[in-house]
Formats: sequence, C-alpha cells, structure tokens
Amino acid sequence: MRKPFIAANWKMNTDMASAVELAGGVAKEIAGIENVKTAVCPPFVYLQKVAENLSHGGNLHLGAQDVYFEGNGAFTGEISCEMLKDVCVEYVITGHSERRHVIGETDELINKKTRAALDAKLLPILCIGELLEEREAGKTNAVVANQVKKGLAGFSAAEAVEITLAYEPVWAIGTGKTATSEQAQEVHAMIRSLLAEMYDQATAEAIIIQYGGSAKPANTEELMSCPDVDGLLVGGAGLKVESFSEMIKITS
Ligand code: G3P
Repeated sequence: MRKPFIAANWKMNTDMASAVELAGGVAKEIAGIENVKTAVCPPFVYLQKVAENLSHGGNLHLGAQDVYFEGNGAFTGEISCEMLKDVCVEYVITGHSERRHVIGETDELINKKTRAALDAKLLPILCIGELLEEREAGKTNAVVANQVKKGLAGFSAAEAVEITLAYEPVWAIGTGKTATSEQAQEVHAMIRSLLAEMYDQATAEAIIIQYGGSAKPANTEELMSCPDVDGLLVGGAGLKVESFSEMIKITS
C-alpha cells in the first residue's frame, strides 16, 4: 500500500516571518493526521528557522528545493546534502521543470543530484514532465519516459523505492490549467508500467508518483481518486495555510 504524500514547493516565495507562520500554521492544522505523508519545501535561507519552529515528532516534514551533487568544497553558491541534513531536511526536490527549463539543468545533472541525495540518506522527489509543445506533438510519453529512465539511471530497485516521482506537466504549472484526472492517470499509469519494465512489478507498485500542476483543494479529491496518483506536489496552493491543510485533510 502506498501512503499518500502531499508536499508543498514554496519556490522563491515567502520571507522569514511568513515562512515560519506558514509552516507552523499547517503543522497545527494537520496535527493528528497520520495516514498522509506531508512536507514543505521552503527556500534554502528559511529552512533552519522553519525547522526550529516545527515541533519535532509532528507530521510535517522538511524538504529543500534543490541540492548540489558534490560534498562540501569549492562550489560557490551551491548547497550540499550535508548542509541540508544539518538543518533537519529530509526530502529534496530534484529536476523541477523550472530548474530544467529556466536554469538549464540536464537529465545527467539531475541524476547526479538524485544520486547524491539518496546516498546522503535524503529522500529525493524527482520531477518529470512535458512541455506544452511536446504534448501537442504527441510526445508526452516519450519525453516523460526518457526523463524517468535518465533520472533513475544507476539506481537499484531497493533504491528506487526510496525516490518519489512527481509528474508535473509544464503547461499546468502555475497556469491554473490542471491536467484532467484522465490525463494525469494516463501518464502515471505509463510511468508505473515503465517502472515495472525497468525493475519489477512489486517495485513499480511501491513507488510513490505525485502529480503537480495547479493542484488545489477543488481538484484534490478527483486527482487523488486516480489509482496511480499517490500524492501531490503543490505550488501556489501550498503558500496558504488554509488551502494546503485542506488538501491534506481531503486526502486523509
Ligand atoms: O512543484 C510544484 C509546482 O511546480 C506546481 O505549481 O503553482 O501549479 O501548483 P502550481
């Protein structure tokens, strides 16, 4: 049985005070919910303060939005896995579409980051997803399958089950255009059968696949009712205590 996993990616939003307030507010609202895994991923500079303000043992966990693949050293501007662990981070997003398409990260770099995170005992959330023109050209499955294969290259089945995949169609991110539940389910099912080919059926059945892209309280129930949608990676709706907590409550 896959435990649903709802995470918020705050992207480059909030400030110190609002970050602490947001995480604290969500933690309070969802106290007692144990059948859903939850996480918030604040900007790097607010991680420590948010960690200090989250009650230990609570159900709201901490994630980072990126990480560098090398250990500490001469890598100006980068953040290592050890640094993230030092401030109580448990999850790390790799391969978000904004890093792929705005910053220019390649599948190879994303694979290295995912490898470094897992080796450091951080839990990666590996994002994949097609651009609008790729969907319109009928290339969705090919693009997403390629990203999954390259992102997971070199990972054993035992390692792959520790990695959450997040399918985020780029055209649905921050646009208000959510993929329909049919569109989401179709790609999620394709990913799961690919995982069965790459590994085996049991491994494929164990891997959590989140959906991301204009997910909000109004579409949570429908998206989460898809058999292969195991959770949500939430952007905009994750920036408000009410909407993000509501999504977790709907899922619980
Ligand atoms: O990582 C979450 C994300 O890209 C989705 O953003 O604002 O469409 O929920 P949003």
